Amino acid sequence: MNKALRQTVIAGNWKMNKTRPEAKELIEAIKPLAEKADCGVVICVPFTNLETAVELTKGTNIKVGAENVHFEKSGAFTGEISADMLTEIGVEYVIIGHSERRQYFGETDETVNKRTKAALAAGLKPIVCVGELLWERECGITEEIVARQIKLDLFDVSAEDVKKTIIAYEPVWAIGTGKVATSEQAEEVCKLIRDTLAKLYSQEVADAVTIQYGGSMNPSNCEELLAQPDVDGGLIGGASLKAEQFGVLLNAASK
Ligand code: 13P
Repeated sequence: MNKALRQTVIAGNWKMNKTRPEAKELIEAIKPLAEKADCGVVICVPFTNLETAVELTKGTNIKVGAENVHFEKSGAFTGEISADMLTEIGVEYVIIGHSERRQYFGETDETVNKRTKAALAAGLKPIVCVGELLWERECGITEEIVARQIKLDLFDVSAEDVKKTIIAYEPVWAIGTGKVATSEQAEEVCKLIRDTLAKLYSQEVADAVTIQYGGSMNPSNCEELLAQPDVDGGLIGGASLKAEQFGVLLNAASK
């Protein structure tokens, strides 16, 4: 396993937070902190803040992502946003299959797969989220659950495209709960994801894929998590809403 073969990426997931003035303030505060970062820096913001974020981050090393995308190109899908609509305004990344989408909005592995393929076809870089529920971990089926999600979510995605895809391992029980996976738990599942990719594609492809950990990652636990050989960054919720905390994560990922 060689970290030099892939990019470490810290991505913020703002979820349903920040009005436009608040977004402007946060982005302006993140900019000087991101400048020094020696890792990929992405902020995934609500649809209403995308244009603002793209505008304010022009000429910086901060990339902008959306939090969801529909799989059809256009049509009668009230309330949805297509991949072309995102790329046209300068969005480069998109979170797909976050557990909150799976839990509250009926997202399934089938729709995650469709959205992933639509995003890639339009030139977006997907951040595909996988992870087990607490009772699945307690039942001892974390490996089966996560391997199954990887296989279904990436079905029919080419080797070339999977290298452009980020996988975020987010144990559902660790999201927004303050309960962080231990670095051993995070490494174990991130390695399992890489091994699954190696079986589906090849070791060379698996080594090139960025695999993030997400779930209560913050300034006090990030160093240990990011030091794991198969943890290539983080998908950050709460701590991405505070510039100074996000800055600490960027520093830790740059080491
Ligand atoms: P928290 O960092 O708030 O636990 O959220 C993690 C997450 O869901 C990122 O997508």
